Parts: sequence; structure tokens; C-alpha cells
Amino acid sequence: MTQGFETLAIHAGQEPDPHTGAVVPPIYAVSTYKQDGVGGLRSGYEYSRSANPTRTALEEAVSAVEGGARGLAFASGLAAEDAVLRTVCRPGDHVVIPNDAYGGTYRLFSRVHESWGLHHDPVPLGDLDAVVSAMTPKTRIVWVETPTNPLLGVADIAALAELAHENGALLVVDNTFASPYLQQPLALGADIVVHSTTKYVGGHSDVIGGALVTAAPELGERLAYNQNAMGAVAGPFDAWLTLRGLKTLAVRMERHCDNAERVVDLLLAHPRVTSVLYPGLPEHPGHEIAAKQMRRFGGMVSFRVAGGEAEAVEVCARTGLFTLGESLGGVESLIEHPGRMTHASASGSPLEVPADLIRLSVGIESIDDLLADLSRALG
Ligand SMILES: Cc1ncc(COP(=O)(O)O)c(C=O)c1O
Repeated sequence: MTQGFETLAIHAGQEPDPHTGAVVPPIYAVSTYKQDGVGGLRSGYEYSRSANPTRTALEEAVSAVEGGARGLAFASGLAAEDAVLRTVCRPGDHVVIPNDAYGGTYRLFSRVHESWGLHHDPVPLGDLDAVVSAMTPKTRIVWVETPTNPLLGVADIAALAELAHENGALLVVDNTFASPYLQQPLALGADIVVHSTTKYVGGHSDVIGGALVTAAPELGERLAYNQNAMGAVAGPFDAWLTLRGLKTLAVRMERHCDNAERVVDLLLAHPRVTSVLYPGLPEHPGHEIAAKQMRRFGGMVSFRVAGGEAEAVEVCARTGLFTLGESLGGVESLIEHPGRMTHASASGSPLEVPADLIRLSVGIESIDDLLADLSRALG
């Protein structure tokens, strides 16, 4: 019988150490491994770029919680994304991307891969006809982020998987915002899940990392080959921190969702808030799909304020507990102005975000303190 999510997060790939009985995988701070004669590897490890036991533990655990065949841990989310593009695509190929996505993802497509001849078209992924029209015989990937960063848009993973496959493309889902606890794209037909494990998986704002999980072992093998060939691997200490975070993902996500729902209530009632973007709201255009494919609606909340950019920037400066900073998914609450911060690189592009937008990563502090902080900042 398959084990439950919480059990897998704590135990998959994390058997007690066979030598000492240590219940937590050690940090194997090592680059190379003694061989018993030329080519005689003791336990499959020869050099830590190719594989390292701490990283293996993380890779197996992430794969297990996503229900995949193969997991791979990278130095960052963007390194993981880059590995997908360079493994699946060739110059002249084409990728359909969301018209709302993390600015760094867009920068990777537009400023790095475009110059190597990998073309992309930003499309509203909620509009399946627009996706079909954007696809060409050269389309190798439909790239999905759901919910999106920072507008919390929702895309129908199962419908897009079908569509991508009908056209001979792969469906890649960036599952960073939902986390594997809230959403499992592979079960809905995705081929590859991407994570910035820097966010909810790590969960404590103390490590940068990325992960890929594939549905098919063969694609996992190809990515693993390139992970070693290209070298942007997660180091053992980073892998250990991320694994430590993963163990408590389920309980953290429940609290993130509880707190986010309360924050949404406050924002909805506030006269200076002009709109609240949260997939849990029945009026959210992606609500029904989110309810179908997510366990709950997550800890990220965006909203727009009266008074435009100047007021949005002021609100960000006035919070205390909500720390002004980039990133998300940690136990501590963060606030940011996407237009000038995380999405500044999308300025002037089809992915430019509204200037009066504020994004919250709602942490797991006492909710009354969070609400008081926001009320004060909104005035
Ligand atoms: C949705 C999403 N995907 C990918 C990334 C990139 O991850 P990293 O910063 O770990 O490279 C981020 C970073 O903010 C993100 O929000």
C-alpha cells in the first residue's frame, strides 16, 4: 500500500544510517569516494557532482511526495528550469509559456534561451483555445505555473496535459506556489514537476534550491545525465536543510492556508483594497479548477490598493511583522511590491505586473499579530 504524504515526507529515501543508526541522513560533506579497485564502487557513489548520499535522500523524498519516478535536486529553481529546457529543447524549438509567471522564469526564456534560438510565446493558460493557437509543430513544452506568481492565476493541469500530449509536447508544471502537499501535477498528467525548493519545500528561508520530478523514468535518466554533465547540483548541506524542511511541509502548509484565509477576509473588508487575488475566493476565475486540483488554496495572497504604485510601495514600507523582502514560502510572513522587486525584469514585457499590486507570503505566526500588522499598514 502506498504510504501517506506525511509518512513519505519524513521517511522516503531517509532510512536510518546503516552504520550508526542515525535517524536523519547525515550531511555527506565529501567530493569523492574510495573505490575497491578501479571502477569498483562500494555503494554506487564515485564523485559528488554525479551523486551524493544526502542529495540522493532529498531526491528520493521529493520524488516520493510528488508521486514521480525520478527526483533530481539542483542548486536553485532556475538551475532546475534551465536543465529542463536544455534537455528537452533544441535551437529552433518553441515553448508555450504563461503570460503570468515568476519574472526570473520569464527572464530565463526571454534573455537567455531566446538568444540560443529557443522561441517562446506567452499565453493566458486559462484560455485553452489561446494555447492551441500558440502551438506550432516545433512546440516541445507547454510550461505551466499554477497558481501563478504573482497574480495567483490558475491553469487546468489535466486539460493542458491532454492538449500538450495531443500536439506531441510535454507538460511541465512549476509547482512552487502550491507545494506537493496541495497539488500533485504528475497525477493530473504532467510530465515534469519543477520546484524552487527555496520556497515551501525548504520552508525556512535559509537555503536556495531547486528540484525536478519526472513521471517517466527515461526522461528522469536524461535529466540526470545532464544534471551531472552541466553540474548545477544541490550541495550536501543545502540538500540536508531542504530535506529537514520537507519533513514538516504538511503541517506548515495547513497553517499557511489557515492564516492566508484570515488575511483574505481582512483584505476583502478593507476600504483601501481594490481587489484581492486568491484562488480560494469563489469569484476567482480559476476557483473551480483550483478546488478540483488543489487540496487547499495556499499561503500566497496578492492584492491591489487604491492610490496606485506610490501607495502600494508605502504599504510595503509600513508593515513590521510582514518583512519587506523577496522570496516566499518560509515560516515568516513576507510582503513585496512585485513591479519593483521580483518582477522588475518583466517590466515592459507581456508579463509586466500592475503597479498597484502587493504580494504577501503569509507565514505561520500568530494570526492576530499578522492581522494587526496589516491593518496598521493599510491605515
Ligand atoms: C514560481 C517560481 N518558480 C521558480 C523560481 C526560481 O527559483 P530560485 O529562486 O530557487 O532559483 C521562483 C523564485 O522566486 C518562483 O517563485
